Amino acid sequence: MSDAEKSQPQPQTIEPAVAITHPEVEAYCEQLTTPEPELLQELVTSTYDVMAWPGKLSGRLVGRTLKLLAGLLQARNVLEIGMFTGYSALSLAEALPDDGKVTCCETNPKAIEFAQTFFDRSPHGNKITPLFGNAMETVPTLDQTYDLVFIDADKRNYFNYLKLTEPKVREGGLIIIDNALWKGNVLNPEDVRDQAIDEMNRYIAESPVLENVFLPIADGLNVIRKVTP
Ligand SMILES: C[S@@+](CC[C@H](N)C(=O)[O-])C[C@H]1O[C@@H](n2cnc3c(N)ncnc32)[C@H](O)[C@@H]1O
Repeated sequence: MSDAEKSQPQPQTIEPAVAITHPEVEAYCEQLTTPEPELLQELVTSTYDVMAWPGKLSGRLVGRTLKLLAGLLQARNVLEIGMFTGYSALSLAEALPDDGKVTCCETNPKAIEFAQTFFDRSPHGNKITPLFGNAMETVPTLDQTYDLVFIDADKRNYFNYLKLTEPKVREGGLIIIDNALWKGNVLNPEDVRDQAIDEMNRYIAESPVLENVFLPIADGLNVIRKVTP
C-alpha cells in the first residue's frame, strides 16, 4: 500500500473490548497495518449489524499477525478453538496453500451459519471446516497433527485447551492464544477465568518445551513455539 493509500480513511475498525494499549496507539498501529481484504472488512461491518457481542472479533492486529505467522510457518493444517463469525479463520486460511485446512470448533450455530456465508464468497473459504460443538469434547476426537493452533474460546477452559492441543502440535509449530491478558485481570486474578489464564501463562513461561513471546497487543497475544528441550 502506498503512503497516499495509507493516509486515506480506513474502513471500520474494531473497538477493543478493553484497551490494554492506549487507544490512540492502538488506532495508529491498526491504521498502519496492512488492511484485511474487502470481504473481511464487510464481515466486520456485518457482524456489528447482525450479531450479539461483535466485540468478540479479534480484529486487524490479531488477524494480520495470524496470517503473517501462518505464512512464515508455511502452515498447512490449522486448528482454531472459537471461530465466532469467521474473521480469524479467514485470516489464517489466506496464508495457507490451496490444499491447506483450517478446522474450527464453535458452539454457536448462528455464528457458524453467518461465517459460512462469507466462507462461500471467499477464495479461501473451502479450506475451512467448522465443527459445531464444545471444543472440550471435539478436540480429543481430532486425530491430527497441526502446524498452528489458535485458542480464542471460553476463557475458563483456556488452560485445558492448551493441555489438549499441545500434544497435537508438531515440533516447531505454533500455539497462539488471544486475550492472554484478559483485560489486565491476570495481573490480579480473582475469578476462575482470570486464574485459568494466569496459570496457563505461567505454565507456558516455565515449560522447557515451549518458547514464547507474550505480546501486549489487543487483549494480549501469547505466541508459543513448541521446541526440543
Ligand atoms: C472470542 S470469540 C472468537 C472470535 C474469533 N476467533 C475471531 O477472531 O473473530 C469466542 C467464540 O468461542 C465460542 N465458544 C465458546 N465456548 C466454546 C466451546 N466450549 N467450544 C467451542 N466454541 C466455544 C463462542 O461461541 C464464540 O463464538
